Amino acid sequence: MKKILLFCDPGIDDSLAIMYALLHPNLEVVGIVSSYGNVPQEKATNNAAYLLKLAGREDIPLIGGAKGPLSGEITVYYPEIHGPEGLGPIRPPETIVGELLNYDRVFDIIEKYKGELTIVDVGRNTSLAIAFILGEEHMKKVKEYFIMGGAFLVPGNVTPVAEANFHGDPIAANLVLSKAKNVTIVPLNVTNEAIVTSEVVDYITQVPFNPFTSLIQPIFEFYADAYLELVPGMNGAPMHDVLTLSALTKPEVLQYIERPVTVQILEDTRGQSVTDFRPGWEPEPTDLLHHVALELDYQLFIHDFVDVMTKSLNE
Ligand code: BDR
Ligand code: CA
Repeated sequence: MKKILLFCDPGIDDSLAIMYALLHPNLEVVGIVSSYGNVPQEKATNNAAYLLKLAGREDIPLIGGAKGPLSGEITVYYPEIHGPEGLGPIRPPETIVGELLNYDRVFDIIEKYKGELTIVDVGRNTSLAIAFILGEEHMKKVKEYFIMGGAFLVPGNVTPVAEANFHGDPIAANLVLSKAKNVTIVPLNVTNEAIVTSEVVDYITQVPFNPFTSLIQPIFEFYADAYLELVPGMNGAPMHDVLTLSALTKPEVLQYIERPVTVQILEDTRGQSVTDFRPGWEPEPTDLLHHVALELDYQLFIHDFVDVMTKSLNE
């Protein structure tokens, strides 16, 4: 059983990732940190709380994360992709959040599960960067990190070169990548290919398998329609954040190279993830290497997605 502390910004694909994590028999969610990103932090938190309530898992600590990037800049949200509240057409009850825990609870969780905790970050990296700023000694006790972010030698999704999570707070992304040990990066190269179609969702939702079944269809259709606007002819939508969890539970789903990655901070290249792909490249002794996913086994992913999303909570 893998213990995960999930940093996220739900958001539709984040919400599907939360469902996937709660349904997965080999994952134990030991905390959720909800931050700004796809929607403002308050909405992201409300959505996370709503999903925990639907699952009857209000016992899982929900921690309030960052409300904006380290630079203090004004944030751009994405209601056209994730809906006005972050759940497509769904409006969760407004005051769903029960006990929202202070940020230092992150360190309590790391200490409780020291040496065996996986941190998964599928949002802007601000909250995780703050953990390194406030508690670097604690962070050394984290076993591994799985981060959805970046785009390598392929177009970005918010600028020609940048992916949304790294672009949203490039200072934080760079800080995390320079400090965290044992980092797996799951970039757009592979997440753009992790497409789920309406047919797959129809299959998942035809039987009331679990407490999320009635939510999955409307949020997915909203998300897929938004992608169809962006990419005419597109059939389905990419599960960026779900793939990051799938990679954690089913390592064969992705193939990796080992490289030191940095993130550009300024102007036109802001948020761009950079490494060296030249043939013959060798690491320097001082390089901190990251596992960078560049190839997806789609069949393995889609079977894993269907398998997990059709489980019931107590399996
Ligand atoms: C990432 O940005 C967000 O919009 C998604 O939730 C995902 O984490 C993809 O670039
Ligand atoms: Ca996300």
